[in-house]
Amino acid sequence: MTTHSPKESEIEHFNALAAGWNNSEESVALAQKVVQALGIKAGQSLLDVASGTGVIPAALHKLSIRPGRYLALDISGAMLEALREGYPEAETQCVDFENPFICESGFDYVLIYNSIPHFVNLEMLFVNAERSLNPGGTFMIAHSRTRQGLKEHHARIGYSSTREPIPPDQALIELAVQHGFDRITIEDEELYCFSCTRVSL
Ligand SMILES: C[S@@+](CC[C@H](N)C(=O)[O-])C[C@H]1O[C@@H](n2cnc3c(N)ncnc32)[C@H](O)[C@@H]1O
Repeated sequence: MTTHSPKESEIEHFNALAAGWNNSEESVALAQKVVQALGIKAGQSLLDVASGTGVIPAALHKLSIRPGRYLALDISGAMLEALREGYPEAETQCVDFENPFICESGFDYVLIYNSIPHFVNLEMLFVNAERSLNPGGTFMIAHSRTRQGLKEHHARIGYSSTREPIPPDQALIELAVQHGFDRITIEDEELYCFSCTRVSL
């Protein structure tokens, strides 16, 4: 009998979901709100962490924002394959963002959208985001549901976890400060948006 580590099971789970992962009009409309909250402009660069099949490039396209560089990262090769079908020009890398991530040039924005519940090692997210950003760049953790809305959604679908799906604000604030970020803002009304800026040198 083959045994799988939790990470391997996670990869298998998302690989299996990729083919049927539909970026509906509604999900693209919600992603547009996040892209607008992020504030990315044409020509700027974006690292889309845990990109899935490409709801963020779909939102950028709808908003007619053409980034100077767009890199999609995901732990699931099948998710990235689906993303490249829709967006053949997208740069993609199959990586686990809970491992140290080194990139050769800095980004203006690092975004983790609708994926924070899947990350356990929050410290590594901040280490990787800080390393990946230009000074003054923005790191955003966003979700299409509010903190409470996501908990209620999980209860409805019978999903239970020992962790909070969206980590407590105070934990995110402390990690941001420890890892060289300032200008921290948190919105939790229509969507959840935690945003911080890499301190300029
Ligand atoms: C719920 S999906 C969201 C995908 C996309 N952001 C969206 O909104 O449609 C979560 C994504 O996180 C990815 N993921 C989970 N753990 C990851 C990790 N450690 N590193 C990179 N990606 C990861 C999964 O493969 C999956 O594509």
